[in-house]
Amino acid sequence: MASLTIRKLDEGIKTYLRLRSAKNRRSVEEEVRVILGELIEGREEPLTPFAAPPAASTAPTSQRSGAPPEASVTLIIGGGIAAYKSLDLIRRLKERRIEVRCVLTTAAQQFVTPLAVSALSHERVHTDLFDPQSEFDAGHIRLARECDLIVVAPATADLMAKMANGHADDLASAILLATNRKVLVAPAMNPLMWNNAATRRNVAQLQRDGVVLIGPNSGEMAEAGEAGIGRMSEAIEIATAAERLLRPPVPRPLAGKRVLITAGPTHEPIDPVRYIANRSSGKQGFAIAAAAQAAGAEVILVSGPVDLRDPQGVTVKHVESARQMLEQVQAALPADIAIFAAAVADWRVANEGEQKLKKTSAGMPPLQLVENPDILATISKLTGERPPLVIGFAAETEHLIDNAKSKLARKGCDWIVANDVSPATGVMGGDRNTVHLISRKDGEKNSEKDGEIAVDSWPVMTKEQVAIELVAHIAKSVTGKSREPAS
Ligand code: C5P
Repeated sequence: MASLTIRKLDEGIKTYLRLRSAKNRRSVEEEVRVILGELIEGREEPLTPFAAPPAASTAPTSQRSGAPPEASVTLIIGGGIAAYKSLDLIRRLKERRIEVRCVLTTAAQQFVTPLAVSALSHERVHTDLFDPQSEFDAGHIRLARECDLIVVAPATADLMAKMANGHADDLASAILLATNRKVLVAPAMNPLMWNNAATRRNVAQLQRDGVVLIGPNSGEMAEAGEAGIGRMSEAIEIATAAERLLRPPVPRPLAGKRVLITAGPTHEPIDPVRYIANRSSGKQGFAIAAAAQAAGAEVILVSGPVDLRDPQGVTVKHVESARQMLEQVQAALPADIAIFAAAVADWRVANEGEQKLKKTSAGMPPLQLVENPDILATISKLTGERPPLVIGFAAETEHLIDNAKSKLARKGCDWIVANDVSPATGVMGGDRNTVHLISRKDGEKNSEKDGEIAVDSWPVMTKEQVAIELVAHIAKSVTGKSREPAS
């Protein structure tokens, strides 16, 4: 089959290819392949009357599903008997939706062939620093930088020595010297080489340079009768380590904690069609539920009537009135943390009409109000099942801090999140909030300590940011503290 030398193309075509490949972050050669592929896909007649089955039917899961890769790795395969495991490593990485571009050292080609590596990676394999095709556009720099991680497997004693000393006399070492990406190295060598003072020095240097090592494991060597530390880690171990570097686990500081949250207004019925309500949207409480869930907590959200979608992964109990809210809160105990963000109606109608109240000549029907149960105070004053951390909200239109401080004492909770809800602030129903965290403990920096009560004033933030900040404070405060196990 004819071969195409990009170098020999017209200047105009070369410039076009250079610009297009730079824009698409591909090598010029890959760009040409894409262009040809697009041309062929758009063809009208089949390529051959006996076309082979589509490649997808034999491709790994990720390719079959057509899902695009989420990360890319440059895999450098060194010259050792363990190179055969790198073929499996390519498959394991691709299963994890990681695109793999492979580089083989000269010695590696004694153990695995570029053809096998290319067939598994579905990419061209790179072997030569002076390859005119890929060096036409500084291929070693692309391989070093156009990836999220470099994996060296197997890393021979010689390759590690070159890395530790900054050599760059072949493609693999040039890439390793030119990269600014994280490097994961899976050493594989004879135990005597691994224990040699020179290798020890090189390993220590690589670790100081920030290179991450996986293995080697101990076990039998390829050499008959030899055993010890030096076996390359298994492909699955290397793929897992690579995945951890590419997608570090999200911190879950509230894992194992049960968080109970109230949100929204309550509706207190007057008759079957009318009720007393307030302007609470529930946004702040819902944002706290979502943030606590993201921090790993088991979250139970007791919500009054709101126009919001239930946060994912949260158990939501929908209620109407304050009394129903209290019932659901009590049913949800025990909890490690309780956050009462609901704007609960203070009063309800004493004698709720069984039928719709009618206008009469006698004038307006008298509406007698009685006090609702105070859910925050009730839970704060529990003796048996009191959650170790109880947080209330204070929505005030005047004397914000003073009122919030006295609420902290009156209700018996541990923290109060105070916010000004006077109409000018737009907090009620809006997306932003300015809050002050009032607590009985020592405050953070920026807090003005007042006796035993600390006031920590936060800048104006979105309700989601307030939620994340509050959850971070909670996580700091409850780490290590747990509710008593239920007897
Ligand atoms: O008494 P006030 O409504 O100002 O207190 C606000 C705090 O008390 C909020 O945390 C709110 O959820 C809670 N609260 C309650 N039950 C009530 C009234 C308020 O849990 N009946």
